[in-house]
Amino acid sequence: MSLILLLSFFFFTQYGTASPAVQTLNIKPQYFNPKLPPRTLSSSKKFEGSSDLVDLRYHMGPVLSSPINIYLIWYGKWTLSQQLLIKDFLLSISTANHRAAPSPSVAEWWRTVSLYTDQTGANISRSILIAGEYSDRRYSHGTHLTRLTIQDVIATAVQSKPFPVDHGNGIYLILTSVDVTVQDFCRAVCGFHYFTFPSKVGYTLPYAWVGNSGKQCPEVCAYPFAVPGYMGGGGPGALTPPNADVGVDGMISVIGHELAEVASNPLVNAWYAGEDPSAPTEIGDLCEGLYGSGGGGGYIGLVMSDGVGRTYNLNGRRGRKFLVQWIWSPVLKACAGPNASD
Ligand SMILES: *[C@@H]1O[C@H](CO)[C@@H](O)[C@H](O)[C@H]1NC(C)=O
Repeated sequence: MSLILLLSFFFFTQYGTASPAVQTLNIKPQYFNPKLPPRTLSSSKKFEGSSDLVDLRYHMGPVLSSPINIYLIWYGKWTLSQQLLIKDFLLSISTANHRAAPSPSVAEWWRTVSLYTDQTGANISRSILIAGEYSDRRYSHGTHLTRLTIQDVIATAVQSKPFPVDHGNGIYLILTSVDVTVQDFCRAVCGFHYFTFPSKVGYTLPYAWVGNSGKQCPEVCAYPFAVPGYMGGGGPGALTPPNADVGVDGMISVIGHELAEVASNPLVNAWYAGEDPSAPTEIGDLCEGLYGSGGGGGYIGLVMSDGVGRTYNLNGRRGRKFLVQWIWSPVLKACAGPNASD
């Protein structure tokens, strides 16, 4: 359901959020295994390699099998370059939007998600587009949001824009800026997804929220681009983000996690593990913190690094690089990603 992190330490670090233009990393990449300290204090229900423990089942509800229309809601103050970075990631999922990026690519990463089907055998769509955008620069519902007032933000966006009601293939993606606090953000979640209530928004539609943790808790929600203070002293440091923005580069993986889960469990009655639908373990949760082969036990696994040490595992459109967690494959019954090394 959400990125659940039980890290109880709060170590506030100020990170500059430089906003570079699109950068292309031309140096031949190499795989490496960053020796980050074990992430033992994050709950991370990881099940890599032990599929016997995973009871992922289909509960007969819909998946997003038609081309997926994302309605982006930018809450708070966002720079143009931050918006371009996030949109480049979203548009990298569908190969229709760009010339195919070199392998391992974001589109190949989504291929694992597209292996999930509904009861008619229809696969999750590989086509994702940004169908609309709304900027709420004036914090229409304040600088602190709750799970419920996030729906008021959606209602405001829907009324102001107006966004069409895309039953069956529309989702709202609400992104909060670095200065917005959200209920449970940093303490328990980095993002979550659910669906709107008719009483709030007028109808039921899936949505996902992800916050920029860059100032509030990068060591929790932008890991491994920031590491907790208690791990930093004398030990290995954080990895360098691929786009020089700890908060937003960290959001990319959380956005990927939530999108994979919205697509496979949009109304929380399709693909999840566990008996309790109010606290489901979903296809992103199962692989949280895992980015490459050999990961687990606190290590993120084999990823790539360019000549100046920027860390990534996926290529996207316009030469972009991203570091995105792996997703549980229903075929392999294991976490999978296109940067797997055999
Ligand atoms: C649809 O999902 C099935 C089952 O996971 C898979 O075997 C098949 O390759 C998928 N088809 C497409 C077009 O992705």
